[in-house]
Amino acid sequence: FLHKLVLGIETSCDDTAAAVVDETGNVLGEAIHSQTEVHLKTGGIVPPVAQQLHRENIQRIVQEALSASKVSPSELSAIATTVKPGLALSLGVGLSFSLQLVHQLKKPFIPIHHMEAHALTIRLLNKVEFPFLVLLISGGHCLLALVRGVSDFLLLGKSLDIAPGDMLDKVARRLSLIKHPECSTMSGGKAIEHLAKQGNKLHFDIKPPMQRAKNCDFSFSGLQHVIDKIIMQKEKEEGIQKGQILSSAAHIAAAVQHTIACHIAKRTHRAILFCKQRHLLSQSNAVLVVSGGVASNLYIRKALEIVTNATQCTLLCPPPRLCTDNGIMIAWNGIERLRAGVGVLHNTEGIRYEPK
Ligand code: KG4
Ligand code: ZN
Repeated sequence: FLHKLVLGIETSCDDTAAAVVDETGNVLGEAIHSQTEVHLKTGGIVPPVAQQLHRENIQRIVQEALSASKVSPSELSAIATTVKPGLALSLGVGLSFSLQLVHQLKKPFIPIHHMEAHALTIRLLNKVEFPFLVLLISGGHCLLALVRGVSDFLLLGKSLDIAPGDMLDKVARRLSLIKHPECSTMSGGKAIEHLAKQGNKLHFDIKPPMQRAKNCDFSFSGLQHVIDKIIMQKEKEEGIQKGQILSSAAHIAAAVQHTIACHIAKRTHRAILFCKQRHLLSQSNAVLVVSGGVASNLYIRKALEIVTNATQCTLLCPPPRLCTDNGIMIAWNGIERLRAGVGVLHNTEGIRYEPK
């Protein structure tokens, strides 16, 4: 009664993560090292720095995940690793490490697409059948896709510029929320959500982006520009220096959050209607999965709930630790691919090692 066991390794951005997951979705062991603190100091990710940190941590993280799982490496059915998309230098570290392990242990290798792994994570927890709709919203991702099978995705829309979390982080930085006594330890998005509760979302008249675009794409940088102008204007009015907290910061936070919630909800509504009209989704029990760091925003979730209620869809969100980057989703995608028999490589000779 031996279960399939997969080791998953993720290094596509700024988290070095690994996990061992079995066929039934049990997480036997996991470990993660986040580089966020280092990158916060430089105001963004510097790829060679990220690469160096992945190199310093990958061995330990994989070892920790394996030890915690009490699985001996020889018992693994396969090793799954993120190969795209992401920062080339970061991806290279995970790929190089995994290929060495694959050769050493003589195990099959499963290359993983990071977005597909995010999209299928929900199936580790819930019995969600294909097809379903997925909305990925984080600091680096923004897309809507129809998931028709383990390796069958139809991209319906994506951001034409930046991701919503990136935009929230930039607005939070511009508002100096890190100096705000209530929000100093929060991510930009979380700080905006917190402050928005004290503000009036209608204090400023801001139009959601792309209202006339007949597709499911997103855009956030125009909106960011509008907000920047409002902040500049308010700084002048309040006689405040750049870097001090505006007395209207809460109103601005509420307006930004409201506007992006409307935008995200409207684009998602379009995607649901499109899929239903074309019979790509069930009329009566379609599922919308929402994941990514921004999915933890309760105001945005409320907006999405209104959309799913109006269209007879079920809204599902993985818990926060599975919404953000992790090794579990990579291992689980490996399990899905093993079960479906797609993308499992028994010969990795053609795959290049990390360039030195
Ligand atoms: O998925 P994630 O941890 O990392 C990647 O971007 O890959 O997402 C982080 C993003 C950040 O931009 C952060 O500001 C945003 O998610 N975020 C939120 C909230 N919590 C985190 N955005 C809105 N509301 C929140 N409560
Ligand atoms: Zn991600």
